[in-house]
Amino acid sequence: MNAAGRARLDRMPEWGALAVHHAESTGTHLRELFAADPGRAERLTVRAGDLHIDYSRNLVTDETLRLLRELARATDVAGLRDAMFTGERINTTEDRAVLHTALRTPSDAVVAVAGEGTNVVPAVHTVLTKMQVFADRVRSGDWRGHTGSRIRTVVNIGIGGSDLGPAMAYEALRAYSDRGLAVRFVSNVDGADLYEAVHDLDPAETLFVVASKTFTTIETITNATSAKEWLLAGLGVPAGDESAVARHFVAVSTNAAKVAEFGIDTDNMFEFWDWVGGRYSFDSAIGLALMTAIGPDNFREMLAGFHLIDDHFRSAPPEENAPLLLGLLGVWYGGFHGARSHAVLPYSHYLGRFTAYLQQLDMESNGKSVDRQGRPVDWQTGPVVWGTPGTNGQHAYYQLLHQGTQLVPADLIGFARPVSGMPAGPAGHHDLLMANLFAQGQALAFGKTSEEVRAEGVAEELVPHRTFPGNRPTTTILAPELTPSVLGQLVALYEHKVFVQGAIWDIDSFDQWGVELGKVLAKQVEPALTEGAEVPGLDASTAALVARYRELRGR
Ligand code: F6P
Repeated sequence: MNAAGRARLDRMPEWGALAVHHAESTGTHLRELFAADPGRAERLTVRAGDLHIDYSRNLVTDETLRLLRELARATDVAGLRDAMFTGERINTTEDRAVLHTALRTPSDAVVAVAGEGTNVVPAVHTVLTKMQVFADRVRSGDWRGHTGSRIRTVVNIGIGGSDLGPAMAYEALRAYSDRGLAVRFVSNVDGADLYEAVHDLDPAETLFVVASKTFTTIETITNATSAKEWLLAGLGVPAGDESAVARHFVAVSTNAAKVAEFGIDTDNMFEFWDWVGGRYSFDSAIGLALMTAIGPDNFREMLAGFHLIDDHFRSAPPEENAPLLLGLLGVWYGGFHGARSHAVLPYSHYLGRFTAYLQQLDMESNGKSVDRQGRPVDWQTGPVVWGTPGTNGQHAYYQLLHQGTQLVPADLIGFARPVSGMPAGPAGHHDLLMANLFAQGQALAFGKTSEEVRAEGVAEELVPHRTFPGNRPTTTILAPELTPSVLGQLVALYEHKVFVQGAIWDIDSFDQWGVELGKVLAKQVEPALTEGAEVPGLDASTAALVARYRELRGR
């Protein structure tokens, strides 16, 4: 996909039309929009798979939506989408195809990287089958540790996309997991993370999944090396005997050579490919620990959920295309309303890590400030994504959402039923949880006028404090239940929303050069900490901090 001919976003007539429209419509309150249009709630609702998405409480009219769709047409979102699905090398700065959608296609699909011609789908399904065999063996107790013990705990070692996805999904699908088999996740190079994950485990019953696309990530290799030492010491095997590693370590990677170098038999390696970006990878073999926890059938159901939304994104008309609409709303708020952040507020304890997962998906994808040709952009790109599950956030930061000076568009995510087969807690909890979700959307949109406050007899000097301006936009995503399929649908929805925004902003959403500098500098600085080495080019502030650090360490 060559975007060289594309006009600059802010010089497109469609962008200009939105700017004019914004100037004309600004100040119109959601109260007025709803009062003037009784069909609004019903009309501004879209269905994608099992997801019912109400976007009526956004600061838009039918005209705004029409103009936004015009912008999507002018920026050829559909063309880039089709290029992605058909294996074009749309990650231009890394010259890579972007084919995470091939990870969830049925086995009879045909998808090839442009210019290579090989159908990637058979390899995807071969790895899925290999994962299934492994997961079943661990779950059934057929896979034994070095001493013959059954595996009781799987520890996933990875970071970023090799951690956040499976860790989030494991929490989300806890109710579907084998409760006799624990899965823990280690990511931070802070030794406390590994220590806390393993200190109470029996090495004979512990299996490590080392998950790293590159197998060169310093945090992961450091943790995996220490885990290997912990295992061998704990098993009490003779020094130099590493034969136990084969029963206690498997790897997930694209880099067989590095896996072998680390000492893991490549028979115990689960492959994926460079056309799967790290943050788009948990439905690849990166989901191995997850599949082991929830079982292959649930994992495949989750993949089917992803695929459902892939199909929706490819085929639904613009007016009904959920990822397109959500992406456009974000462009509207960032580009014209000055919104700098976006809150994702799941009303589900099981989605406790969902927003952390989305932070990488969104911010590593769209935290860019040059366009695809390398020119600085003059428009706002990705927002800060943040949030935690309701109702906890309500008693912490919702104050700012309701009465602060910033506009923070928010997604409220909830489920009609608590997860089946789980005790829903004492009677009434779920209804109360959902009542809070619905109430927050209402309060944010419609607020409480000073007249309403006065009518309650509130003292005049307190009226301003107790007035809620409202007009704070939310999108509500309601699904029947948090099943594996619904989780897949939700993640795919956000993946494609992020894609739409990157396409409109004309940035490469699939590279992550911005994380490189810190990695390089950390490697340079480390010898200064440990050996007091002279590091050329160290700035004065860093040099002074390093000196103080060494002093405190008694070095
Ligand atoms: O540093 C960023 C990053 O490259 C992410 O994009 C990636 O998910 C993470 O590091 C982990 O990389 P790997 O899977 O290669 O260890």
